[in-house]
Amino acid sequence: MNGIILAIESSCDDTSAAVIAQGRVLSNVLATQEVHRQYGGVVPEVASRAHQTHIIPVVEAAIRQSGLAVEDIQAVAFTRGPGLIGSLLVGVSFAKAFALARQLPLIEINHLQAHVLAHFATPHAPSFPFLCLTVSGGHTQILVVKSHSDMEIIGQTTDDAAGEAFDKTGKMLGLPYPAGPEIDRLARLGSPRFEFPEPQIPGLDFSFSGLKTSILYFLQKQEAEAPGFSQRELPDICASVQARIVSILLRKLIRASEQQGICEVALAGGVSANSGLRAALRLEGEKRGWNTYIPPIEYCTDNAAMIGIAAWYKYQKGDFCAQDVAPLARWQF
Ligand code: KG4
Ligand code: ZN
Repeated sequence: MNGIILAIESSCDDTSAAVIAQGRVLSNVLATQEVHRQYGGVVPEVASRAHQTHIIPVVEAAIRQSGLAVEDIQAVAFTRGPGLIGSLLVGVSFAKAFALARQLPLIEINHLQAHVLAHFATPHAPSFPFLCLTVSGGHTQILVVKSHSDMEIIGQTTDDAAGEAFDKTGKMLGLPYPAGPEIDRLARLGSPRFEFPEPQIPGLDFSFSGLKTSILYFLQKQEAEAPGFSQRELPDICASVQARIVSILLRKLIRASEQQGICEVALAGGVSANSGLRAALRLEGEKRGWNTYIPPIEYCTDNAAMIGIAAWYKYQKGDFCAQDVAPLARWQF
């Protein structure tokens, strides 16, 4: 068979490898670095070392689970950026060494484009052009996706990412890192009865730092008046914070759809695992006649399958990179 790609993802704190055959995911293996929980956030130096520990076993597992052999691999794809430089270096160096040893072509992938292309790992992919709201721990963007390779950023955060807003709020509430999934779980047990202000940012850009500050002041005031408030009211606080983050995201997405006249609307990135955001997008989609697309959760958070899918489109065009390629901590496509 032609088009068998080994894909590597190591941009942040997840080490992942996948095997893709003709654009179909045969395996997708992930090692999450639990070690960061004790620090309340990703420690770059610790992340690089953990990637060193995980990369070989993760690649071996991905090849084994694919049912193929090392000799079957025909190209190696890797995340070149954006991300933590020390983390990226591990994946890039591994990919280069593997490709050199086996005389295979190398395919560099932009992590953010791969989040968008994760949709093409599923049978229900959006049709072009579509809008994609990419929301992760490091990024919040609205893109017009015109083809597998042509994407335009039409809105983005001016400060914190949506995932950071979840994680930093969680830290204030004493929740473990990353707090997004825990806030999501608690929000389902509560009701959004606390009102946090919506930032007034023009156009399609986002801002989450004001929200973070208003949550901090709110918690400080309530704790001073009624000690133990945050713990007693945890589900309602989480529901309120989540409702506000979701409403900020949806408002801009609606504006983007109206401005662009596009009704194909997709979510991507780790925060698209959020049940409130998924439900709100579906509801808004039904109201506005959008076709909405949300990948399964394993393709929302960081994973190598999306790197392999993105690579498949480059592979078909013979779009390979040289062995002197280096990672890019920042990479605006
Ligand atoms: O895409 P991703 O795995 O890594 C980055 O490229 O950043 O996204 C991780 C982010 C974290 O901020 C995490 O808290 C958030 O996604 N996240 C969630 C949920 N699951 C993951 N946020 C809200 N609700 C969730 N269910
Ligand atoms: Zn990501």
